[in-house]
Amino acid sequence: MNNASEVFDRRRFVKLTTAAGAAALLHGHLGAAYAAAQKKSAGLTFPDLPYEVDALAPYLSARTVGIHYKEHHKGYYDLVAGWVKKDAGYQGKSLEELIGTTRGGILRDESVFHMAVLLYNHNLYWPSMKPDGGGEPSTKLDVRGAVEKSFGSYKAFRKKFVEEAMKLGSGWVFLVNGPDGLAVFRTDYHDTPLHHYFTPLLALDVWEHAYYLDYQNNRRKYVDTFFDKLVNWQFAESRLKQTRRK
Ligand SMILES: [Fe+2]
Repeated sequence: MNNASEVFDRRRFVKLTTAAGAAALLHGHLGAAYAAAQKKSAGLTFPDLPYEVDALAPYLSARTVGIHYKEHHKGYYDLVAGWVKKDAGYQGKSLEELIGTTRGGILRDESVFHMAVLLYNHNLYWPSMKPDGGGEPSTKLDVRGAVEKSFGSYKAFRKKFVEEAMKLGSGWVFLVNGPDGLAVFRTDYHDTPLHHYFTPLLALDVWEHAYYLDYQNNRRKYVDTFFDKLVNWQFAESRLKQTRRK
């Protein structure tokens, strides 16, 4: 089922999971990380899946990935693209700009915002995983040091991320880079760290459609499998370096 229609009437709220993150939000900090996150993307496009549809099996089946990518993700893209096509005010904007433009809007703007956020988050979700992924980030990667600096250890980071994932009804959990280092950021339903001044480095979809066919209601197993078998630390590394270049 495409969940595009059911999300409109659900309230959304955000939990920042570090004191640094909360401080950044409270003070409306427009730091380098936010500026980097606002950079223009290649435009409103539906990205290719970065691997074959069955490449994450047996950890995520071809059926799960196929439905999620071709129906859910494509559904969000089609909705947003359709609205953009009909409204000159939205045309020529990157996805990031569209999210910024429609944030806080009412009626149609709110709908565009919610779907644009889901499109943006899903664009990050697929490359956050890879075949033969999983495990701790290599000590050769800058993101390893950044994780240890902000959380104390990889183990502490993972524990925090899993705890946040288990608190949600439906939503998203991210590893983000912000003005005071890395943090875990979770959103209920449809929101993104982007407009809260954080750059997402990894995204995990914890809506049931992401895992139910393979794990039923065992979300903990899905989240653990993400870290053990799927997580793509090279993607997080590339996102971290993009942020730092700004
Ligand atoms: Fe999803």
